[in-house]
Amino acid sequence: MDVMEAIEKRTSVRAYQDKPIPEETLKKILKAARLAPSARNAQPYKYIVVKDARMREKLANEATPYHFIGEAPVILVAVALQPDYVMRCEVPAYAVDVGIAFDHVTLVAVEEGLGTCWIGAFYQKPAKQILNIPEKYKVVAILPVGYPADGAGKKSRKSLNELVCYDTFTE
Ligand SMILES: Cc1cc2nc3c(=O)[nH]c(=O)nc-3n(C[C@H](O)[C@H](O)[C@H](O)COP(=O)(O)O)c2cc1C
Repeated sequence: MDVMEAIEKRTSVRAYQDKPIPEETLKKILKAARLAPSARNAQPYKYIVVKDARMREKLANEATPYHFIGEAPVILVAVALQPDYVMRCEVPAYAVDVGIAFDHVTLVAVEEGLGTCWIGAFYQKPAKQILNIPEKYKVVAILPVGYPADGAGKKSRKSLNELVCYDTFTE
């Protein structure tokens, strides 16, 4: 599968089969995160692979409003280790770094027949407590990974004309 095909196929998956992910496949997905670029190549993150069924359920039910997350055989949690670092451009690096790494993950997941769903609507405090994450760090994203239990969703996107302007900014 080429990159564009994976981009076109990826949609958010919110229902998962009760089927484990082979260890080799999981390793490949984590490698995709590992190879992502980061500001200053600092790689200031840690990925928690939540596989234990009780932990998944606890995380889903107590740290998010979504039960379906716990049904995925794996939940990846990205933790920023330098949440205060802001780049010269005045943009915090951690969200960009993790965004790129998890996008690698979502695309390799598609190649492996897996689905994912980026979860931003989680509760920071319970997520940290459940996963034993020190207060000074920040949970950036929660990403269930598993074999989809429903058909692919349809992408709804703005047109290129709406999204792109040339040479200077226009509304
Ligand atoms: C930063 C971010 C946060 C998101 N948070 C949630 C979320 O909390 N719950 C959810 O169901 N989907 C969440 N999504 C998924 C988006 O709703 C989804 O990507 C968007 O509707 C486009 O659909 P598609 O992913 O199927 O192409 C999030 C996506 C991104 C990129």
